[in-house]
This record gives sequence, structure tokens and C-alpha cells, in this order.
Amino acid sequence: MSEIIRYEHVDISYKGELAVHDVSFSVEEGEILGIVGESGSGKSTLIKAAMGLLGRDGLVTRGDIWYQGLDLPDLKPKEMRKICGSEIGMIFQMAGSSFCPIRTVRAQLYESVREHEKLTKEEFEVQVTELFEKFGFDDPKRILDSYPFELSGGMQQRVGIVAAMLLNPKILMADEPTSALDVSVQKQVVDEMCMIREKFGTTILLVTHNLGVIRAMADKVLVLENGEVREYGKTKEVLENPQSEYTKKLLSAVLELRR
Ligand SMILES: Nc1ncnc2c1ncn2[C@@H]1O[C@H](COP(=O)(O)OP(=O)(O)O)[C@@H](O)[C@H]1O
Ligand SMILES: [Mg+2]
Repeated sequence: MSEIIRYEHVDISYKGELAVHDVSFSVEEGEILGIVGESGSGKSTLIKAAMGLLGRDGLVTRGDIWYQGLDLPDLKPKEMRKICGSEIGMIFQMAGSSFCPIRTVRAQLYESVREHEKLTKEEFEVQVTELFEKFGFDDPKRILDSYPFELSGGMQQRVGIVAAMLLNPKILMADEPTSALDVSVQKQVVDEMCMIREKFGTTILLVTHNLGVIRAMADKVLVLENGEVREYGKTKEVLENPQSEYTKKLLSAVLELRR
């Protein structure tokens, strides 16, 4: 396996205030890295930085994020737009909220593909139907004909995942993709993401506060506290034999909840 993305001593600030400090890690092709930590620990900031999504106030002030010889924070917006979606895809906590309510799923998916590839509506229809079928959807036509509000939250999230995979990105950044879902749908989304890695070989950076999801999916895990790495290693080792007090606390908080 070879490395596909590498964070090197990354600092990120909002309006001069440090939110992420000296974070380094690397992810191999086809690997799933889980990123955990309490709310506000810098998880979203870390993955937004790779996609130029920090907003006006956010800035990578030190370090590099390497992807195929490119230092992502140094890219011009135009260069970044080329990579976003097609090379590095993203799914958010509520994919549904990023769909436009008054246009069909088909129209929106077609538009997002057209930004990167020239293909006719007919070609798109074949491609998108095939992809939905691969993901085990019974009736792709019905979903494509729907307006987002006609779909349940869980279905919207699953469609969001298919949408991200339409461009077959090499890396998928998933920011709390299961957090807003019912437990039953959470499992479907987890299965779907495992399938993405299996069938497409996609590398996944998965932000979640659900250690069960980490256990089920992640090869490695990075634990963040106040923007700093507390622990980084193989999932099994980190969960079974945590080294930092912070990780132990996170783990015991989960045990408390279970009881
Ligand atoms: N747009 C922003 N402007 C100012 N501060 C922000 C902004 N986004 C996030 N932060 C701050 O950066 C820190 C990390 O936030 P975030 O990456 O969203 O954490 P997490 O995803 O782990 O909950 C927090 O202290 C948060 O308040
Ligand atoms: Mg977040």
C-alpha cells in the first residue's frame, strides 16, 4: 500500500486563535482513519483544511497537507475546485441539508457530475442507476425522481453517499455521517461506507464521536483533544490499551452510556 494523504505539523487558526496544533498523520490507499474527540476538539477543522473549506476566518498557519505532490492549503481556489469532489469527496452530518429542496435528486446529481465530466443525460442515467444498484437501492428511478424532502433523513444521507461516489474520488472525508441518524439507519450507513472501501478501494477519513462506528470500520484512529493529537495508532490497540488519560476518559464515557 502507498500513502495517499499526509498531514505534517499542521496548525490551523481562526482569526488568529489556534484551533489545531501540530497535527501529523498519514493515511494509506484504501485505509480508513477514524478521527475522534469531544465537540470542539478540531475534528471538522482538520478535514475542512484539506478541502479549502475553512471559511474566511480560518487559515492553515503552519505545516503542510500533502496529496499527490500537492500541498493542499497552497492551492488556488480554481485548482482546489478541480480536486474537490472528483479527487477528494465529502459527506457531511446531514447530507440532506446540502440538497436544494425544490429540485429533483436527478437534476442535482447530474449538475454535480457535469461540473467535472462531460456526459450526456443518457450516459448519466445509466451510470447513476448502476451506482444506486451497486449500493443496494431497490428503485433508483423513484429516488432520482424525488425531491429531497420526499425522502427520509436516513435515505437522504444514503443518497448523499452515492452522490459523493458518483465522481469516484480517491479519498472520502466523512464528517459525523451517522450522528443525526436513528440507530437502524446508522448501521446501513456504516455498511455502505465499508462497501465503498471494498468495491472502490476508497480511502476514508471518518470523523465520529461514536466509538462503536470506529471499532466496526477504522483501521487506525486519531484522538484529538483541544486541537492536539493525544493518541494515534491501530484501532484495536488504541481501544484495548489506551495510553492517554483523555482516551481512557472517552472510552469510559461510552461504557457509562451503555450501562
Ligand atoms: N468558523 C469558525 N470561526 C471561529 N472559530 C471556529 C470556527 N469553526 C470552528 N471554530 C473553533 O475551532 C475549534 C474546533 O472546532 P471544530 O473543528 O468544529 O471541532 P469539532 O468538529 O471537533 O467539534 C472550536 O473551538 C471552535 O469553536
Ligand atoms: Mg465537527
